[in-house]
Amino acid sequence: MTTDDLLARHRAVLPSWMPLYYAEPIELVSGSGRRVTDAQGRTYLDFFGGVLTNMIGYDIPEIRDAVERQIRTGIVHTSTIYLIRQQIELAEKIARLSGIPDARVFFTNSGTEANEAALLVATNHRRSHQILAVRNSYHGRSYAAMGVTGNRNWSASGLNPLQVAWLHSGERLRGLLSRLPESDRIEAAVEDLREVLATQTAGDVACLIAEPIQGVGGFVAPPDGLFAAWKKVLDEHGILLISDEVQTGWGRTGEHFWGYQAHGVTPDLLTFAKGVGNGFALAGVVGRADVLESVSAISFSTFGGNPVSTAAGNAVLDYLRDHDLQANAARVGAILADGLRAALAGLDCVAEVRGKGLMLGVEFVRPGTAEPDPALTARVFEACRAGGLLAGKGGLHGNVLRMGPPLTLTEDEAREGLAILVEAIRSCAAEAVPA
Ligand SMILES: Cc1ncc(COP(=O)(O)O)c(C=O)c1O
Repeated sequence: MTTDDLLARHRAVLPSWMPLYYAEPIELVSGSGRRVTDAQGRTYLDFFGGVLTNMIGYDIPEIRDAVERQIRTGIVHTSTIYLIRQQIELAEKIARLSGIPDARVFFTNSGTEANEAALLVATNHRRSHQILAVRNSYHGRSYAAMGVTGNRNWSASGLNPLQVAWLHSGERLRGLLSRLPESDRIEAAVEDLREVLATQTAGDVACLIAEPIQGVGGFVAPPDGLFAAWKKVLDEHGILLISDEVQTGWGRTGEHFWGYQAHGVTPDLLTFAKGVGNGFALAGVVGRADVLESVSAISFSTFGGNPVSTAAGNAVLDYLRDHDLQANAARVGAILADGLRAALAGLDCVAEVRGKGLMLGVEFVRPGTAEPDPALTARVFEACRAGGLLAGKGGLHGNVLRMGPPLTLTEDEAREGLAILVEAIRSCAAEAVPA
């Protein structure tokens, strides 16, 4: 069976709206550390980690052993109607790490469900279905999560159980606030929040949901401190803050364990997913007890926090902390970010190299303009693959190359990936057509 045959079968039986990367899609058949091998025997350095999910890397003995130990007990699943020791242990760890006082944790299988749960408790707690969300955000694929997603490309339905009002993110490059000097953008974003509350809501809003760095949106970040400035206004009205840490959590940004910490504020609710299971389906919401207890009916998730995924989650968090991967993300991320900035300075098709730690993006524009260049981005993306590096793509306009490698990335691997990236970008830029 060739990859072409497999692709034909994929296309015949799976929906076309589920995108496949690359002109010639890849089947990954094995992995070790930060490297994966495809069905043709070609090995790649993985700078995307299955969308920031293989956070520790591939075939990590500590995680494999923990999962195998659980499987050997004969119990893969019990459901949460029974006590699950490793779920309780993991909840204790996450509650402690969250920074939220007297926290409770509810486990789900995906980031979407985590956000759905956060929105459920926030709306119940506040007895309101009015929500504030941020333009260019992504929060998932259920009706509520899609309803707070500010990106047309990912909004497959206009049906929305929530009433949503949209805030400017205060990002540097695009949107109305980007026209203002950096020093004025937080104040302008707060003014926008006050105006939205006064003009588009009935005042009794349930919550604001926001990503500290917008993942799908192209690793776009608001100015540090914006969440705290927003929260001052939110607190005047009793409005809750949900930090969607699905991409930014667990030390990925290097400078902090959670993305929200760059803002000098603690959210009422925090959602997590992706990296914590290192590939096992594990996600959830952690929040203040009085808020998380705001469910007046039975609510449970059959698979949420199951014995295998929470065994993996405990092993992942132990590994992360034993090896201080947050510090590694800061150190190795700086090699990548500094290297990219130095090598790409002067390339007028590169609007920006941005991000924190091991969450880095390069935004491409038509030379000499601010016009997004998704075609160039696609060429760079393919060139990286040809050079042996897997990266990601994103941004509202599909013009951002995204790097979110495992947090175990070594300095040598960072330099190796950097060289491939720079070569791919320079060679494609040389062919870029001026506007
Ligand atoms: C910030 C953010 N929130 C929520 C989600 C949804 O997570 P999932 O795909 O696990 O449902 C994603 C997925 O990419 C995400 O990036």
